[in-house]
Amino acid sequence: MSHPVTAPVSVGPLRLRNRVVKTATFEGMSPGGRVGDALIDHHATLARHGVALTTVAYGAVAADGRTFADQLLVDEHAVPGLRALADAVHAHGGAVSLQLAHCGGFSKLAASGAPKGPSAAWNAYGLAEGVGRVRPMDEGDLASVVDAFARAARHAADAGFDAVEVHCGHGYLLSQFLSPAINRRRDAWGGSLDRRLRLPLDVVRAVRQAVGPDVAVLAKVNTRDGFAGGLEIDEAVDIAVALVEAGVDGLVPSGGVVFRTPFFLMRGGVPLAGMASVQEHALQRWSMRLFGSFIVRPFPYTSTFFFDDALRIARAVDVPVGLLGGVDSDAAIRRALDAGFGFVVMGRSLLAEPDLLARLAAGPGWTSACTRGNACVVEMDRGGVRCVRSEGRCPAP
Ligand SMILES: Cc1cc2nc3c(=O)[nH]c(=O)nc-3n(C[C@H](O)[C@H](O)[C@H](O)COP(=O)(O)O)c2cc1C
Repeated sequence: MSHPVTAPVSVGPLRLRNRVVKTATFEGMSPGGRVGDALIDHHATLARHGVALTTVAYGAVAADGRTFADQLLVDEHAVPGLRALADAVHAHGGAVSLQLAHCGGFSKLAASGAPKGPSAAWNAYGLAEGVGRVRPMDEGDLASVVDAFARAARHAADAGFDAVEVHCGHGYLLSQFLSPAINRRRDAWGGSLDRRLRLPLDVVRAVRQAVGPDVAVLAKVNTRDGFAGGLEIDEAVDIAVALVEAGVDGLVPSGGVVFRTPFFLMRGGVPLAGMASVQEHALQRWSMRLFGSFIVRPFPYTSTFFFDDALRIARAVDVPVGLLGGVDSDAAIRRALDAGFGFVVMGRSLLAEPDLLARLAAGPGWTSACTRGNACVVEMDRGGVRCVRSEGRCPAP
């Protein structure tokens, strides 16, 4: 009998050949913000191994939407490279999605002046670069953000992408607006959930219109921010419902805020020494070494760690929802599909074993080779994201 994961599924206009989706894991393969050959190869390899949909990580919708300079910038100059990437994935029968993101106040790009977010705040990430303060966005900034998402979505469609994923999670701009801890505005864009939702909904409607009916629009959303006072699951369910009403075809629930609770997203080991070694400034390297264990809060790894919260979202909406976060075994995949998730979404399991569909087909009982040591996080800054467990460099936590 074939594995349930091999059944096709539709996400809006997109027919997935099976239920395995590769989530965005920043590749570190877009030098100068452009698509590199390694990036094309990375995604083509996943498609060659049968992955139904692979997600290109962090496509910045504007120059000032980048956290750092080597993030993919989705402007008109990006289209030829993105088209080559989409063609390479399609040649292997796969589909490809582009994650669309804006970093808001979480940036170290001094060139773009003080980063802007929902409210005035400190930006510890940009301190060494002299951009340690966040300025609140005004009406003009907000209109530009909506336009930038729409334009970038159109570029993805022009390049032949099958889907775009609007990043509404992880503490990036749209998530900053949704978070009651980060958005402290008292105008029409902050306060009640309806007001905090205004920017994400405007963005989703604009993206939906920009890509037209043939491209699927996904949204990555937080179930919780992972710290006291942040977004919690009850509001996250209402957010998911509102995003679907605004035109989203599928949802990927996640959680955490990269500049406060980065390991809430993935759980497991915190590779502090490696993270310190890739910091640009000596001061950052030393403070990471000395204070890292106080600054970076660990979250223990458990299999399918967003399951219960993500299921609440899946039950509240009538579009397919993917289970993300610690999908690490045959049993976990079967349980997710049995529970009603439309597909499973994997990061580290696919970095460790891009051929996991073949492993699932070979017989029951597959468990991921990923050690959850998270050394892959450091590799993003060391030439490109990859699994280094076989080199003995990713001990289990
Ligand atoms: C090396 C690495 C890079 C990541 N980069 C991104 C990213 O660019 N965008 C994003 O939304 N999530 C990113 N994530 C989070 C993953 O998409 C995912 O939410 C998380 O790893 C949990 O899924 P998993 O247990 O299947 O790995 C990254 C995770 C890892 C391990």
